[in-house]
Amino acid sequence: MKLWGGRFTKETNQLVHNFNASLSFDQKFYHQDIEGSIAHVTMLAKQGIISEEDRDKIIHGLKGICADLESGALTITAEHEDIHSFVEANLTERIGEAGKRLHTGRSRNDQVALDMKLYTRDEIDELTALVKGLLKELLALMEKNLDTYMPGFTHLQKAQPITLAHHAGAYFEMFDRDYSRLLDIRKRMNYCPLGSGALAGTTYPLDREYTAKLLGFDGPTLNSMDSVADRDYLIELLSALSTISMHLSRFCEEIIIWNTNEYRFVEIDDSYSTGSSIMPQKKNPDIAELIRGKTGRVYGALISILTTMKGIPLAYNKDMQEDKELTFDAIDTVKGCLALFTGMISSMSFRKDVMEVSAKNGFTNATDAADYLVNHGVPFRDAHGIVGQLVLFCIEKGIALDDMTLEEYKAISPVFEDDIYDAISLKTCVEKRMTIGAPGQEAMKKVIEIYKRKIEE
Ligand code: ARG
Repeated sequence: MKLWGGRFTKETNQLVHNFNASLSFDQKFYHQDIEGSIAHVTMLAKQGIISEEDRDKIIHGLKGICADLESGALTITAEHEDIHSFVEANLTERIGEAGKRLHTGRSRNDQVALDMKLYTRDEIDELTALVKGLLKELLALMEKNLDTYMPGFTHLQKAQPITLAHHAGAYFEMFDRDYSRLLDIRKRMNYCPLGSGALAGTTYPLDREYTAKLLGFDGPTLNSMDSVADRDYLIELLSALSTISMHLSRFCEEIIIWNTNEYRFVEIDDSYSTGSSIMPQKKNPDIAELIRGKTGRVYGALISILTTMKGIPLAYNKDMQEDKELTFDAIDTVKGCLALFTGMISSMSFRKDVMEVSAKNGFTNATDAADYLVNHGVPFRDAHGIVGQLVLFCIEKGIALDDMTLEEYKAISPVFEDDIYDAISLKTCVEKRMTIGAPGQEAMKKVIEIYKRKIEE
């Protein structure tokens, strides 16, 4: 059963076997393990290291294992140390002697480095597609809400009016950076470690360029020690996943706030909400809360692997087996969060009327009142003070700036004229902001065109 029994005189202690084994989790990449082995033997035969007959037998056997695992005809059993041992043992059972030639010119160290890369690369492709789906959803939200006014906040205090399109656009930017981070990682990691052996390459005349090409890599890795000891790409991926989680969590936090009775900016669809076992009136935003909460375990995976890797001398050490479970969990978690988040916002209703009323209250146009004075020659610092007095006056009377009479304005500063009302209207406040990146419709339309082109690429 073991790949390394020869020099041992005793059976492995059962607890040691259990502690050492990785089969329970590395079976997740059986498909990639077999894919890597098929490429390896194809190269071995091309180089005349094994016969074409053995190659064909091995490939046939490996494909059989894959098909049987997929159909359920074959099950993975716990006596094997890892997926590599399982596949090799099963192969030899199926095809006899030829199966024993599969591992020629290969170590489990370069094999596991390859499998993990192949698995991660496939997952990055799925993650990228999910982020793109979310970007499309955000773009649709933007296009529909160019004139949906809402308050913009700083310190969670109303600051200046913006639009829902502009708010969604901020998240488009964040997830667009996430998207390009995933592409970057894929590009940087896409070199094939197979052929690095245990740490020092092999004495067989392997064609590493050929194997790399068969497996869709941009080339072979260039240092055999680094090849078996590098987990940077996982750290980069977990960092990117942490950032995605952080972005999702921030948006979820806002949605949770917007979904409260106090705000009522949005209503999460019934299909994405849950109830209470005791309080009949409740409709809770559990999905948004869970996505926010799961951020913690993704960060945990990043910190865990950084810590695991920090003291490992070159080259392969068993510590590195710890890279798998947390990475798998983080990938699955973020994939789930992205899919659910996209579904939640696409089914959510936005209460435009409530948002607009909220944008009108809370003096979100105070800066524009100050700008009005500046445009009439008042220095900005003085203007700031004058508008401060206006706000105080309004707070005492319980009214908005828009509700003051011209006499009341003039009593505080004679500079104000009748056109102040138009200058501080919600529409003006937003639409005057036309520089690129600002919420005004003209600016937003230009940005949306850029986003559309990006998405189509
Ligand atoms: N299961 C190991 C891992 O996940 C791979 C096998 C390498 N084992 C070894 N003893 N060299 O890292």
